[in-house]
Amino acid sequence: MEVILAKTAGFCFGVQRAVDTVHTQIKEGTSPIYTYGPIVHNETVVKELEAQGVRVLNTKEELLNLTEGTVIIRAHGVGKEIYDLMEQKGIRLIDATCPFVRKIHRIVQKEEAEGRQILIIGNARHPEVEGIRGWCRTPSFVVESVEEAQNFTIGAGEKLCIVSQTTFNYKKFKDLVEIISKKGYDIIVLNTICSATEERQTEARQIASRVDAMIVIGGSHSSNTQKLFEICKKECENTYHIQELEDLDLKSSQSIRCVGITAGASTPKKIIEEVQKHVGIKF
Ligand code: F3S
Repeated sequence: MEVILAKTAGFCFGVQRAVDTVHTQIKEGTSPIYTYGPIVHNETVVKELEAQGVRVLNTKEELLNLTEGTVIIRAHGVGKEIYDLMEQKGIRLIDATCPFVRKIHRIVQKEEAEGRQILIIGNARHPEVEGIRGWCRTPSFVVESVEEAQNFTIGAGEKLCIVSQTTFNYKKFKDLVEIISKKGYDIIVLNTICSATEERQTEARQIASRVDAMIVIGGSHSSNTQKLFEICKKECENTYHIQELEDLDLKSSQSIRCVGITAGASTPKKIIEEVQKHVGIKF
């Protein structure tokens, strides 16, 4: 029996780095430790960290009420206001913002200083987009749909800089940029989409196309896991979506010689390894 584990399964580089940052602080005996928002969208991970004394701050008000401790900024990043606030309060800040997101913060600061208005292609309610907007001194714009792109206007003669939320779909980004480009503004476009999601999907597709059964691990509400499942199912009829090892009900069969495994972006390595080990032993 051969088990093929996708190299890109689970956390991307930025999320892994943020989770590692929290573990390092725990090991160093830092206390109390807070994360500004859950460090990863996975309840098991957050609960495990909570058991080790890591508390989640969910709102700016909770941050305002802090008088001591260390606050870790997660991979999505935050606006400048939060950094300033912590500095004023004298609270220790550890920045685990993904470097790819930090790069967008720097781009919007620079382009705005050079006289361009900022337009972000993404979801206005997503914390990453809120954080990027928080690095603009003047009001920025967010466009997510074709309709919003069609309705988008700025004053004649104004200059524009377009960036993207890191997890936005490339094709959709291109389509929206094309609509806005036709409006005749002076525009520069910087594609700031991160390749992690696409690489995970491409690898899942490749593996699923050559195995007898494919396992996709991830939360039932996770949209990127659902997408991975759909991609794999197209290539391999025998595709299973599980949240954890207990959900796995692989019928052991003579015809299964090779099993592939991938996982959504918020699935911890521990769960992936458990499944990998179990599949390896069972067959
Ligand atoms: Fe992850 Fe950073 Fe890309 S958080 S999805 S590696 S932008």
